[in-house]
Amino acid sequence: MRHFLSDNSAAVHPEVMAALTRANHEHAAAYGDDAVTGRVLALFQRHFGEHARAQLVFGGTGANVVGLAAVMQPFEAIVCSANSHLWMDECGAPERFLGSKLIAVAPTSGKLRPEDIEPHLRCHTGVHGVRPKVVSITQATEWGTVYSVEETRALAEMAHDAGLLLHVDGARLANAAAHLDCSLRALTTDAGVDLLSFGGAKNGLMFGEAVVILAEGLAPDLDRCCKQAMQLASKMRFMAAQFEALLTGDLWLRNARRANAMAQRLAEALGTGVELAAPVQTNVLFARVRPEDVAPLQAERAFYMWDPADTTVRWMTAWDTEEADVDAFAAAVLARGGYSTSV
Ligand SMILES: Cc1ncc(COP(=O)(O)O)c(C=O)c1O
Repeated sequence: MRHFLSDNSAAVHPEVMAALTRANHEHAAAYGDDAVTGRVLALFQRHFGEHARAQLVFGGTGANVVGLAAVMQPFEAIVCSANSHLWMDECGAPERFLGSKLIAVAPTSGKLRPEDIEPHLRCHTGVHGVRPKVVSITQATEWGTVYSVEETRALAEMAHDAGLLLHVDGARLANAAAHLDCSLRALTTDAGVDLLSFGGAKNGLMFGEAVVILAEGLAPDLDRCCKQAMQLASKMRFMAAQFEALLTGDLWLRNARRANAMAQRLAEALGTGVELAAPVQTNVLFARVRPEDVAPLQAERAFYMWDPADTTVRWMTAWDTEEADVDAFAAAVLARGGYSTSV
């Protein structure tokens, strides 16, 4: 049974499994000194530009923390969205491991605009206040919405003008690129992004994410930050083999397109029968449903309650969501009577 809990709930893509099996022979150098990891680092340069330097890590929280640790001091601050994974869902890992202050800003549909951030860049009080160092955005956002290339560039320019860096939590960057039909590079390096967490687990891998430094010469000690943060895999080749499967051809894009298409299909099947809390741009829908409908619908297919205050629920699709899953669930939702006027 496939449900609508999370893209983290999805299976491992068969091409990724096959790559793991291919890597599973003989011995290889540890800690990333193997041939597969070497090829993967070159693949990241193919996708993100010649100066891109990637470091593979176990998870997305780790990617965010390691990347940020490599570019800032504890007396410097991160400006991020109040909906961000960094702020909401990392159990204080950034605060603990970076020792840095996070400044959370209220977003609109999950997104930050330069005018939301700007006041926070000017409010520090010399030696007495933290110094903002990084603006962090999530692409696609926690609401499944997408920053356009122009929006990203505007944030990068604002950050750079103020002497800050732009970090992207790209746990679902592939979904954003699929939505915009643009390259990973156009959405990041070419738009002025300085560093990135690049998602793997949500897009068909068993595990593994990457920190990608995009700005030339930034974060020279990334590898040591990674080791100190306990994110350096000894058997790195098995993480690398998965990324090789994802990035050599277009598996990253096929998987993201499929996940996005299934969310669109669900939105279209529901039509005006459900009130959506955000536009459907990637692989997730946020819908407001009646409180009494939540448990019966969860019995059909599992999903998360997002905000009990107004019974906003989250329905997330993944690379392996099938049309039949969507159609069956849409029918179950519509059978509850539709929502357009009564929510
Ligand atoms: C936006 C975002 N960033 C990062 C992560 C990665 O988190 P984890 O540490 O669970 O791999 C997630 C996971 O859900 C996420 O949604």
